[in-house]
Amino acid sequence: MFLGRVKPLDAILATAEKKSLHRSLGAFQLTLLGIGAVIGTGIFVLTAEAAQKAGPAMMISFVIAGFVCAVAALCYSELAAMVPVSGSAYTYTYAVMGELLAWMVGWALILEYAVGASAVAVGWSGYFVGLLKSWGINFPTALAVGPSQGGILNLPAVGIALLVTGLLIIGTKESARFTSALVLVKVVALSIFVILTFPVLNGAHFEPFIPNGWGTYGVVGAAASIFFAYVGFDAVSTAAEETINPQRNVPIGLIGSLLFCTVFYLLVAAGAIGAMGADPVRDAAGHVLAPGSAELAAQCKAVVAGGMTEPLTCSKEALAHVLRTIGYERIGDLMGVAAFIALPSVVLMMMFGQTRIFFVMARDGLLPERLSDVHPKFRTPHIVTAFTGIVVTLAAAFLPVGKLADYSNSGTLFAFAMVALAVLILRRKDPSRKRPFRTPAVAIIAPMAIIGCIGLYLFLPTLAKLVLIIWGAVGLLIYFGYSRSRSHVGRGIIEVPELAADAPKSVGVPPMPGAPAPGSDAERD
Ligand code: ALA
Repeated sequence: MFLGRVKPLDAILATAEKKSLHRSLGAFQLTLLGIGAVIGTGIFVLTAEAAQKAGPAMMISFVIAGFVCAVAALCYSELAAMVPVSGSAYTYTYAVMGELLAWMVGWALILEYAVGASAVAVGWSGYFVGLLKSWGINFPTALAVGPSQGGILNLPAVGIALLVTGLLIIGTKESARFTSALVLVKVVALSIFVILTFPVLNGAHFEPFIPNGWGTYGVVGAAASIFFAYVGFDAVSTAAEETINPQRNVPIGLIGSLLFCTVFYLLVAAGAIGAMGADPVRDAAGHVLAPGSAELAAQCKAVVAGGMTEPLTCSKEALAHVLRTIGYERIGDLMGVAAFIALPSVVLMMMFGQTRIFFVMARDGLLPERLSDVHPKFRTPHIVTAFTGIVVTLAAAFLPVGKLADYSNSGTLFAFAMVALAVLILRRKDPSRKRPFRTPAVAIIAPMAIIGCIGLYLFLPTLAKLVLIIWGAVGLLIYFGYSRSRSHVGRGIIEVPELAADAPKSVGVPPMPGAPAPGSDAERD
């Protein structure tokens, strides 16, 4: 039966109770963790792609994407507070809608986390190359972008993906404080951007406000792409097991970090548009060129060769470019430095999230248990980490940032829609269960989240939509060919091994990046 194999919620919760996990995160740390996971390539890089689609109306796109994320986060919060265990959307779906859909969600989360990590690595590469240029070093284009943009492969993105993989394999416990500091770097950098751009805002740059209409290559299409800028807030829910009083703190962390980012993004977008203009680049016939396409790259090259300033929509380091253009050369370079040092933490966070999801799926018997093998010396899950690293590196080597972000979004939107559906079903199936956080006006909010996610999905480029469908089909083949017969729940083993969910931590894998170091002042707050 479709929903046949459900993992009993009580078994999941009993396991969580039994665990002696160190709970160290409070509301403030969780919010920081959320902000740390959310601010990244989306705002630093994809602002240019959003502008190429929507022009100045990308501000509306940010609001639409932020709104869909907010309603999804409200649903997430109910489940995250109620089922405060590892695995996020995958675990919730398993408990509520059964194994098949849980598998599909876990499978889609690979797009969110692994492909998302690739997108951030490619975004980082743009800033790295720009930074080198500001120091007078021209990195060869052939090795700075993938084939679709006229290059061979993106070497810096490969380098950072491998570096992060290596860090995760040898363990990064000591870097916890450092990653907290990186949140500050990003927030300070974006604040400086707003402070410097607002005095030079030019109202004329907001005209025409909606140059390309509302379609896939217009406002809603830009929202579907820029949705990536908000992805990552669910890292908060995956840290629920490490949270003091998760019932109160997880919802605060989720919604707090999202609100903070939405306001910030709007200010940054307004600053970028007002200071520099955000006119989409068109071909000779006046058609808007697709972000990430060879045609756009060629047109951008021609504009610069003609002696004009590179448009915002062409830049691979949008925010640094705006600052340099309005006369703040050095501070533009510093913005590049900020992205250079802070974006790798987002790659790390997403890859870490991916290994966690793989772990939980392997624990449930749906993936080979060998994936959770632990390295004898480093005491980290090296196989699953190396596997994740290879996938992330390959995608980052050959694909442009916008396309990767769109593929990642297609998986994320599916997972979020499922979570919202799970909330509705659970309210009906198990109305009296204790809900420390209740999604307000659930009858409105949850359907809005589902419709919002489906709506944004429909406005993704065709290829990104196909990626989810093809990925899903491959997932189904694997489920029926391998996982179904090996599933622990299917074989009647519903007791969850005590240490499995936190295996990465119990064997010395780093705490969630951004989490305070054990025994630190922040931990005692
Ligand atoms: N939201 C994260 C970013 O923009 C994934 O990089």
